[in-house]
Amino acid sequence: MNAIVEGRNLKRFYEVGGGMFSKPATVKALNGLSFALEAGKTLAVVGESGCGKSTLARLVTMIEEPSEGELLIEGRTADPSVKATRSSVQIVFQNPYGSLNPRQKIGAILEEPLKINTHDDAETRRRKALDMMQKVGLRPEHYDRYPHMFSGGQRQRIAIARALMLDPKILVLDEPVSALDLSIQAQVLNLLMDLQKEMGLAYLFISHGLSVVRHIADEVLVMYLGRPVERGPVAEVFAHPRHPYTAALLSATPVADPTRKKHRIELKGELPSPLNPPPGCPFNPRCANATDLCRQTMPDESGEGAHRFFCHHPM
Ligand SMILES: Nc1ncnc2c1ncn2[C@@H]1O[C@H](COP(=O)(O)OP(=O)(O)O)[C@@H](O)[C@H]1O
Ligand SMILES: [Mg+2]
Repeated sequence: MNAIVEGRNLKRFYEVGGGMFSKPATVKALNGLSFALEAGKTLAVVGESGCGKSTLARLVTMIEEPSEGELLIEGRTADPSVKATRSSVQIVFQNPYGSLNPRQKIGAILEEPLKINTHDDAETRRRKALDMMQKVGLRPEHYDRYPHMFSGGQRQRIAIARALMLDPKILVLDEPVSALDLSIQAQVLNLLMDLQKEMGLAYLFISHGLSVVRHIADEVLVMYLGRPVERGPVAEVFAHPRHPYTAALLSATPVADPTRKKHRIELKGELPSPLNPPPGCPFNPRCANATDLCRQTMPDESGEGAHRFFCHHPM
């Protein structure tokens, strides 16, 4: 396989506390994640809030460096001091309200990456911005408007357009539709799929739920407390989840077939703090199938082909 982005045992730790009332401690936000994303494909990373998804996004976009492990972009160790490497990976954030400068017009927002990174003259920048606006479904008259004049869905189109101005190869999409109404979500997802086809983009698509990723992703990676629990081709993981956590996430996902509700698996309890992960399999306190083995030993990876999971008692 020819990966355009590859993570090898990526870890990211944060030191917290150490103030007057707390001892210093280490949050293992990402605790050993390997993955590979091919050009033109979509890898969905799914897990509850706090499992390390945005931390992964910051590593892949080189906003932060891994504490351990290695990130490769186009086969080379990611080096943020190389401009071409930096511009080849762009990010779209969840919140379309916070990520756009309210004092800049849309035209200026889109042209800023060109101003900073290219020698394009004003006329070329304007033409590129207008072309990109058309690609993402914005009208030419929007060029002179401010972000507050747009709906959430349109703002996310603007954020996507900005991310594409430098012709990247990889887009990190950190919950790009989570803040939008359901009907608007579908429109933005369709736009992303069209753009992927047209521009050959690779997507690292981050989501807290599985339902959104079903149609957009080729592969899915389910995370729990900074670690992978299951990964594989989307159709396979949806049809035959092997890890009880994946099964629980799936049964929380609305499905067309109402008979599936009978097999609903409850996800009990809260996500434990990554400051204090349980010993053994990190999912064991919430798992209906957990045994002493699960409470003592971290499971190794198992599975066949591309469908892999970490579980002592797979489903
Ligand atoms: N800069 C930071 N300092 C301390 N803890 C952090 C920092 N960033 C993230 N964390 C912690 O790391 C864990 C993973 O966070 P995050 O990657 O934002 O999760 P997600 O995006 O899946 O909700 C959380 O427990 C969060 O509180
Ligand atoms: Mg997040």
